[in-house]
Amino acid sequence: MAGRPESPLDPSAGPVARSAAELRKLRAEADSPTYRLMARRTGQGASTLSQAAAGERLPTLPVVLAYVRACDGDQAEWAARWREAAADAAAEPRTEDEDAEPPYRGLARFEPDDANVFFGRDELTDRLLNLASSRRFTAVFGPSGSGKSSLLRAGLIPALQAEPSPHLRPAAIRILTPGPRAGEEVAGRKLAGE
Ligand SMILES: Nc1ncnc2c1ncn2[C@@H]1O[C@H](COP(=O)(O)OP(=O)(O)O)[C@@H](O)[C@H]1O
Ligand SMILES: [Mg+2]
Repeated sequence: MAGRPESPLDPSAGPVARSAAELRKLRAEADSPTYRLMARRTGQGASTLSQAAAGERLPTLPVVLAYVRACDGDQAEWAARWREAAADAAAEPRTEDEDAEPPYRGLARFEPDDANVFFGRDELTDRLLNLASSRRFTAVFGPSGSGKSSLLRAGLIPALQAEPSPHLRPAAIRILTPGPRAGEEVAGRKLAGE
């Protein structure tokens, strides 16, 4: 049940971190259900729920309420808390970080390290995660430029790596781009122990 530990939060850092810390506490008090179980209890995606406590941005109210429901928390109390956090977050002055990289990748695809700026694919990522965890083979099809590579690299791979259950978390993840000799490429990588 022990998954990859969540990165530490500083609850005094602002409303987003405080809200994430409160959600984590609620989950811990509910005997730390896995995000997969919480997803099953609520119909919200597992990665959406885990993102809610990541402290990167304020989750939406429906996501917070689903999280709270999955941990047997008091909905009305948490809705009020969320409103307060949203008001505090809106009132915070914007910090102009000169070094902040814009999330726009141009024509390039999103890579696994871009997971924190990869938006709008939570639902697809969850569906893919479920398929990949329950089938021997899963394929993603779509027109060129529709975001397949980004979905796999910045959506699925980080979600697989963050999988809390050691039984479901893959021991190795390889990205192969099959050329004319795909079989040899796979065998070569296996031999090289990559
Ligand atoms: N979730 C997203 N939000 C914004 N832009 C995206 C998203 N996913 C992909 N893109 C952009 O769309 C373009 C095509 O993405 P890519 O993953 O290479 O698609 P495919 O592999 O299907 O050809 C790239 O410019 C990429 O940065
Ligand atoms: Mg591609």
